Amino acid sequence: MKELLKAPFMVEMVRTITNMYNHGWDERNGGNISVLLDECEVAEYLDVTRVIRNIPTGFEAPELDGKYFLVTGTGKYFKNVQYEPEVNLGVLRLTDAGKNAELLWGFTDGGKFTSEFPAHMMSHVARLSVNPHNRIVMHCHPANLLAMTYVHDLDEKAFTRTLWQMCTECIVVFPEGVNVLPWMLCGTNEIGEATAEKMKTARLVVWAQHGIYGAGQDLDETFGLIETAEKAAEIYMKIAHLPLVNTITDKQMHELEQRFGFTAREGYLD
Ligand code: 13P
Ligand code: ZN
Repeated sequence: MKELLKAPFMVEMVRTITNMYNHGWDERNGGNISVLLDECEVAEYLDVTRVIRNIPTGFEAPELDGKYFLVTGTGKYFKNVQYEPEVNLGVLRLTDAGKNAELLWGFTDGGKFTSEFPAHMMSHVARLSVNPHNRIVMHCHPANLLAMTYVHDLDEKAFTRTLWQMCTECIVVFPEGVNVLPWMLCGTNEIGEATAEKMKTARLVVWAQHGIYGAGQDLDETFGLIETAEKAAEIYMKIAHLPLVNTITDKQMHELEQRFGFTAREGYLD
């Protein structure tokens, strides 16, 4: 059996989490990540018949029955993950139509998966229905995106258009725009269901006055999505109080569509 801490998915997870912490997106225990793994990938490193303990999930996700995930633990600090991955992370398999999680590795202090597990798992279901290669759901608290939700209209089209106008490449990176949820109680099945619904039409979902969710095929893509949106929000927070003299016009955005070969969200550009 190979050493799990050297598995590419584990190395990448620890590096990404450390990078997110270094970006200031994950104060204290803020933020969480889940990575969908293949059984054959996991079986190289773990005896998948050895279940450490069962943890009820509190929701159903029959689409994910038998699926394996690497996930951050609830209450765990991103800054500590690189030093004690086996305490702060877990590998688990969903069973019983998603109502039960079989812990195969990690959470060695008796901990469990993130409190946002419903939002993660329901978002995986939603994204997989759009893109079967989606493997990542990532949540964090980047300061500028959060700040923007206090001063900007939360209408999705308006919010998206502002972000697109802040950096030329935003519309290239997330042509489908960002979806936005109003403030809701976090850690609940309700916010999980609402997030998943929004995930059907965009890989980025802003949680007003809380943070953001990103989804993608790999950790780099998902990190890059959030990084790009957060950069745009940073520019917005630098200029929002100043008179606007220039912008990126819709005509210019159509030129970008031609140049980079994508289609912006229908109805979002004139
Ligand atoms: P967890 O520590 O349970 O992952 O919660 C952190 C968080 O960001 C809640 O939204
Ligand atoms: Zn959060």
